[in-house]
Amino acid sequence: MTYETLLVGRDGGVTTVTLNRPAKKNAMNPTLHREMHDALTRLADDEGTRVLIITGAGEAFSAGMDLKEYFYDLKDRPHEVDRIRVISQEWRDRKLRLFPAPTIAMVNGYCFGGALPIVASCDLALAAEEATFGLSEVNFGGIPAGPVAWAMGAVLHPRDALWYMLTGEPFDGRRAVEMRLVNRAVPRARLEAETRALAASLAGKDRYALKLTKELFRHSRGMEMDAALAFANAKVRELTYLQQGAWIEEGIGRFLAGEYRPGLAERPGEGERGS
Ligand code: COA
Repeated sequence: MTYETLLVGRDGGVTTVTLNRPAKKNAMNPTLHREMHDALTRLADDEGTRVLIITGAGEAFSAGMDLKEYFYDLKDRPHEVDRIRVISQEWRDRKLRLFPAPTIAMVNGYCFGGALPIVASCDLALAAEEATFGLSEVNFGGIPAGPVAWAMGAVLHPRDALWYMLTGEPFDGRRAVEMRLVNRAVPRARLEAETRALAASLAGKDRYALKLTKELFRHSRGMEMDAALAFANAKVRELTYLQQGAWIEEGIGRFLAGEYRPGLAERPGEGERGS
């Protein structure tokens, strides 16, 4: 997969997509949106992608929407803006949230405005302590449009979401952890190693169990309890079908045989099984 604004690489079952416009702090121009939409569509079908990492090249994760190429240069072409807007929203929201494999945002540096929904839509997020985040739209007289306000409402407490959307104040990786925008922050020098260790551990788990866990979490949030229970029951049957009963036969069977304690660790050899 070759793109002008992205790097896509795979190591074992871990695919890394790097936003690659470092001279522009990986601001998302129309080409990047088209390419991300295409890349996520293809990778969703890629059996070899057990985990997806999204990060940025150089010192930025992404400075958000490309204020020149998207807003300024297209200000007299509303139809083109609408076309790109739909693509940009689709990949940062639906395609990423519902991506079949676990996703991790590795926030290496600047992360502003339109880039925040990427972090919110990924299942897990690790940041450099030194990273700088911001809902900076208000600083140029704009609003956190598209998926931004919704995504912030989904992951942040309203007090924090409104504070940063209204003040435009930047914050660092440690503050992002306090607000639960990201799971963990580590010194930038350790970010890649920590993220890759997490990705490797997820890549070693049962792919169907992870996929269906995501579906349970993502879809049942909007359901009534009765519908959520019926959905969960159907997912258990789907898991049994997809794994041909392995979670019962091997997973529980080996516990009952005294081979391991699932409360403390995964079953021996799980990492190599690669279902
Ligand atoms: N859109 C378009 N271009 C951007 C950009 C954006 N969001 N963010 C950075 N760039 C470009 C700059 O215009 C500059 O281009 P140039 O070298 O051709 O002049 C280049 O990237 C480097 O940026 P620069 O401002 O020189 O780097 P810096 O380290 O001093 O500051 C930022 C980096 C990210 C803090 C600053 O560029 C910034 O505030 N960008 C806007 C962030 C924002 O509000 N994003 C929300 C968009 S929804």
